[in-house]
Amino acid sequence: MTTNPATAAALMLLLILQWPQSLAAHRSGVNGLSSTWEVLLNNSGVVAMHMALTHLNTVIFFDQTSSGRTGYILQRNSSCSRRGGDGGGSSEPKNDGYGAKSSSQVKSCWAHSMEYDVATNSLRPLTLKTDTWCSSSSFLRDGTLQQTGGYGSGIRKIRYFRPCGNGRCDWTESPAVLADGRWYSTSQILPDGGTEGGADRVFILGGLNVFTYEFVPKSHPNETAYELPFLRQTSQRRDKGNNLYPFIHLSSDGNLFIFANRDSILFDYRHNTVLRTFPRLPGSGARNYPSTGSTALLPLDHTNFFQRVEVMICGGAAAGAYRAALRGRYYQALSSCGRMVITDEKPEWIMEKMPGPRLMSDMLVLPTGNVLIINGATHGCAGWQKAINPALTPYLYHPNGKPRKRFSVLRASIIPRMYHSTALLLSDGRILVGGSNPYYRYNFSGYPYKTELRMEAFTPYYMRKFFDDKRPMNVAVVGGEEGIRYGEEFVVLFEMERRGRTELEFVASAAPFVTHSLSMHQRVLRLECRGVQRLGEVLMSAVVKAPPSPVVAPAGYYLLTVVNGGIPSKSEWVRFLV
Ligand SMILES: *[C@@H]1O[C@H](CO)[C@@H](O)[C@H](O)[C@H]1NC(C)=O
Ligand SMILES: *[C@@H]1O[C@H](CO)[C@@H](O)[C@H](O)[C@H]1NC(C)=O
Ligand SMILES: *[C@@H]1O[C@H](CO)[C@@H](O)[C@H](O)[C@H]1NC(C)=O
Ligand SMILES: *[C@@H]1O[C@H](CO)[C@@H](O)[C@H](O)[C@H]1NC(C)=O
Repeated sequence: MTTNPATAAALMLLLILQWPQSLAAHRSGVNGLSSTWEVLLNNSGVVAMHMALTHLNTVIFFDQTSSGRTGYILQRNSSCSRRGGDGGGSSEPKNDGYGAKSSSQVKSCWAHSMEYDVATNSLRPLTLKTDTWCSSSSFLRDGTLQQTGGYGSGIRKIRYFRPCGNGRCDWTESPAVLADGRWYSTSQILPDGGTEGGADRVFILGGLNVFTYEFVPKSHPNETAYELPFLRQTSQRRDKGNNLYPFIHLSSDGNLFIFANRDSILFDYRHNTVLRTFPRLPGSGARNYPSTGSTALLPLDHTNFFQRVEVMICGGAAAGAYRAALRGRYYQALSSCGRMVITDEKPEWIMEKMPGPRLMSDMLVLPTGNVLIINGATHGCAGWQKAINPALTPYLYHPNGKPRKRFSVLRASIIPRMYHSTALLLSDGRILVGGSNPYYRYNFSGYPYKTELRMEAFTPYYMRKFFDDKRPMNVAVVGGEEGIRYGEEFVVLFEMERRGRTELEFVASAAPFVTHSLSMHQRVLRLECRGVQRLGEVLMSAVVKAPPSPVVAPAGYYLLTVVNGGIPSKSEWVRFLV
């Protein structure tokens, strides 16, 4: 910023007069296009096909153990062949993963999982025993990642990673196994498992040619999987399903919104009952793997007691895109988004158009309440070598903006992030972007899109220094580490020099598990603030109310962010407890 006192004074006056932020920002040239991209690591060792942020601010990521050689060698000895030697054959598997011959014990010649420490920008290899290819995960209440399914030897496995912060923790496998094989399934943590002393319970849905769901852990020792005919009905076999990695959102009545292909239901998992069938999402094409659109639950808000639940779905592939891609033809992706308030009496999809077509994008709900759409491609569908033309430009969607003016375009990346790429929000406000692996094996000469081991940070424009005088700083949640009980008030301390008449918002964001353009468990809540007090020249204190129940916010760790007139602080972890 300029140091010219007259200009500075004029700018200050503008700000005092509460000119719209966008106008001030526009004048200074700080807008969406001033967002920045930075390569954090040139070699992340392992493709970030699956990724999650732990409450210790490390990022766990992993690929498939059947990919053979990766970018990180664990040990070199005679049993490690030059090609890799890890599980899986030397060619792409032809079957669907049942009884596949990948070895049951992966010989750890190459790393397939990493722990990335955000603060030190460093990596630590982890060891997976079985194949996690296209698997699912949920964070449990104590911050442990429960990881389920995969391929071949891993298709029925249940794994755990408990973050430790001392560099000594690693993956463990449970002796219990899944009732069905789960390759391309979705996980959802359930609110009813969060009773004092009780176990967390996770709902796991679908998989290739698997039309069932099941619970982990089981409700009783003999419990098996349950049929869900909706999955069979939405499956387009000739197109490899178009309903894999179904979208799940936990609604405010405790039931599950499940979306597959173009259809959706409200499902009562306690009674195995479909409670309602929503209208079909208009337009042709499909939204789930391999058509792979994206979904987000728009922020839940205390002003309606978190009861109004709105789902958004964007992009996907044109009808027949999978079969066309097999013949080397790549259809243009969908440009449409649909929004539906699933708690309305007569819900309907409101359709909107993105600035361009895209699929395989990650959709991130930011603490500001806006939605970032990042990564992906504009033609084809998901799967090995089935898409072309990277979607390099992130879009920012303003849910409360004027219709037809809700999308803005941010600065483009130069690195294609195609199939098997991921993105997630870090506690410092940056977006971590990794992966892209359009080949069965790591292929650094692949044309035109090689296997990508570069890890990047995308810094949205609002995190720039220009906005620091509006930004709440040094946020501390009193008692946040021990945990805050549902419905209790807690104190948030922060520093802020200037406070206009803009509303302060206190936002809690669950940490999602990200893979295949799906952020499982993504959930953002605007919490009630009971009062703000200035304690000193810069120090401020706010009394904030925890969410009322695990239905609104399943027990566990959330990122708490203070947002001042659209400018977010860095986030601090807070734990919500029963
Ligand atoms: C990555 O490689 C590029 C090109 O060699 C180099 O300029 C850059 O400094 C490297 N970045 C990191 C984070 O190592
Ligand atoms: C080579 O590595 C494998 C896998 O860790 C190990 O089981 C084996 O003992 C090692 N062989 C030698 C000769 O060190
Ligand atoms: C589980 O199965 C066993 C053997 O079939 C049976 O004896 C037992 O009653 C069953 N338990 C429950 C809870 O269904
Ligand atoms: C890498 O991809 C190219 C095509 O772009 C292909 O010719 C080559 O065989 C691939 N290599 C491996 C190891 O898969």
